[in-house]
Amino acid sequence: MKLLITGAAGFIGSNFVFYSLDKHPDYKIVGYDALTYAGNLETLKPAMENSNFKFVKGDISDRESVFDLFEKEQFDLVINFAAESHVDRSIEDPGVFLQTNVIGTQVLMDAFRKFGGIRYHQVSTDEVYGDLPLDNPHAFFTETTPITASSPYSASKAAADLLVMAYHRTYQIPVTISRCSNNYGPYQFPEKLIPLMIARALEDKSLPVYGTGENVRDWLYVEDHCRAIDQIIHNGEVGEIFNIGGHNERTNLEVVKTLLNLLNKPQSLIHFVADRKGHDLRYAIDPSKIHSELGWLPTTNFEEGMKKTINWYLENREWWEKIISGEYQEYYKKMYGGGYADL
Ligand code: NAD
Ligand code: TYD
Repeated sequence: MKLLITGAAGFIGSNFVFYSLDKHPDYKIVGYDALTYAGNLETLKPAMENSNFKFVKGDISDRESVFDLFEKEQFDLVINFAAESHVDRSIEDPGVFLQTNVIGTQVLMDAFRKFGGIRYHQVSTDEVYGDLPLDNPHAFFTETTPITASSPYSASKAAADLLVMAYHRTYQIPVTISRCSNNYGPYQFPEKLIPLMIARALEDKSLPVYGTGENVRDWLYVEDHCRAIDQIIHNGEVGEIFNIGGHNERTNLEVVKTLLNLLNKPQSLIHFVADRKGHDLRYAIDPSKIHSELGWLPTTNFEEGMKKTINWYLENREWWEKIISGEYQEYYKKMYGGGYADL
């Protein structure tokens, strides 16, 4: 089997490369990534030592580069992780989200259509369902929940999902889509909630919580997500959409407090800041379809996953400290207005 993993130098893509090399030692894997601010080739260093893995730098919306790659490699499975993925950045600059997330998906599907393969899998997000109210804990996203995106990021992911299903119906492309809840774990870029808060707490800096901190996210350890995708691409029925989540709902404030407790840092580091524009209230996945059809269940609970994640960030300081210096500093100042003395 030959796999194409796009977005391989990002958070979930790199974890999926490691998972697949380990689980399928007979597979050949090509990682393709444009190495945007979120892509880090250093992350893939251990994979580069494996002769079954090869990295190619390129943009998924670059038709010529993608078609050349497909023609040369003749992939069996294509898994598209590549995306602009940060909601806050999409609020600042939506254009690149449409280019990568929508046009990039179209280019990959066109290449798949031309050169063939066993399966095209689109890695999507629960954010395409919009949000749920805070006062109804019995409401969950199912695969038939209508698409109601709130941010330019989620709108671009929703558009890509619609395109994938349209290509399936029109051109009989063998596709699957997975829509996962918020991930956390090793190699997550330190501008997302959990790694941002770990990195700042370790340096005794203030922790910026948006609004009241009451917004709820449904957290999944990244390895559980990788295992779910692996099961879908091998055993999931073509043309189907699968929600992935593990009933690990927490308010943002609960997440931050848990982190502070585990790091033995004071709660006084918490600072409430202006709310995100259009901030989704609650995400919560109903994962019963993937459980009943593929037998998938998460294996890492939130407390255990948080401990593993904190340990990883403690043991790999060099990885995130390099990122935090440089370009990211500028981004951070712009987003948070430089209103903190410790920035
Ligand atoms: P990430 O931002 O860490 O990584 C994205 C990767 O894509 C980076 O390596 C980046 O360089 C690459 N990339 C960006 N634009 C590209 C382009 N035009 N061509 C080629 N490569 C490009 O994101 P992530 O958190 O790893 O998310 C991966 C996928 O999973 C995304 O599709 C995202 O929508 C989805 N997802 C993420 C989460 C989450 O909590 N992180 C949850 C559900 C779904
Ligand atoms: P994030 O990690 O950006 O993921 P998403 O927006 O895709 O859910 O944010 C998770 C939650 O944490 C979200 O409700 C916004 C909130 N948040 C903060 O309160 N402060 C921060 O500095 C960041 C980055 C996020």
